[in-house]
Amino acid sequence: MSLRNELDQVHKGPLPHHVAVVMDGNGRWAAARGLPRVEGHRKGGEAAERLIRFVTRETLCEHLTLFAFSTENWERPPEEVEFLMELLGEFLAQKLGELADAGVRVEAIGQHDRLPPVLAEEVRRAEHRTRDNRRLFLHVALSFGGRWSVVEAMRKAVQQSVDGALRPEDVDAACVHRLMPTAGLPDVDLVIRTGGEQRLSNFLLWEAAYAELFFTPVLWPEFDEATFMRAVHAYQGRQRNFGKVLR
Ligand code: IPE
Ligand code: IPE
Ligand code: MG
Repeated sequence: MSLRNELDQVHKGPLPHHVAVVMDGNGRWAAARGLPRVEGHRKGGEAAERLIRFVTRETLCEHLTLFAFSTENWERPPEEVEFLMELLGEFLAQKLGELADAGVRVEAIGQHDRLPPVLAEEVRRAEHRTRDNRRLFLHVALSFGGRWSVVEAMRKAVQQSVDGALRPEDVDAACVHRLMPTAGLPDVDLVIRTGGEQRLSNFLLWEAAYAELFFTPVLWPEFDEATFMRAVHAYQGRQRNFGKVLR
């Protein structure tokens, strides 16, 4: 089936509202070609660009979250970390015009204070310039960890409790999410992970509680429109019970 036909087909079914992607396999892609790992990251940037463009053009979801750098990724060799930070800053700087014109709203989720000042500035600029856009909400997970997000909520809750503003009986799931730095993020419907590993690696632990999971051996630099369509197609074939008995 041609991509166009496939698109027509998936538009007839329920589309995921929020897709979150673990973009894994850059290093292995490079190693397989005798290239340094960072070349895989460079190529991975192109794959991310391709996906954002495709999803925006075809309105395949309203929220797209890309896992670009985890809280654990700081433990990689300093040269690789530095390269990634520069690449992410360049990506935002170079693509901002196109993203803004395409109606994409950009937001970074994660530990802003750990980012190098240049990248933090690019993030602020992108968030500010695109804040009124509504076509696609792109969340870039940068120095992000699902546990960090929960810890931040705990910290706020304890503080508010000390201040007398929060009582134990006020704490429920909605309250916890409101206190998390990802408060504005809707539940994830579909998690896609490339690179063949079948794990979440501390991604959106809270928001992905009932996400459908799609794993593919395709390495991130080779991720393309057809692979995305396979994931959406698989999603449409799943029965989502949310713990209930559905008739
Ligand atoms: C994912 O690719 C990109 C980041 C984690 C930043 P990897 O760099 O983890 O690639 P592999 O898993 O080593 O192939
Ligand atoms: C997950 O990939 C993080 C990102 C894609 C940014 P990793 O390569 O860091 O995950 P592990 O170490 O294989 O679990
Ligand atoms: Mg990896």
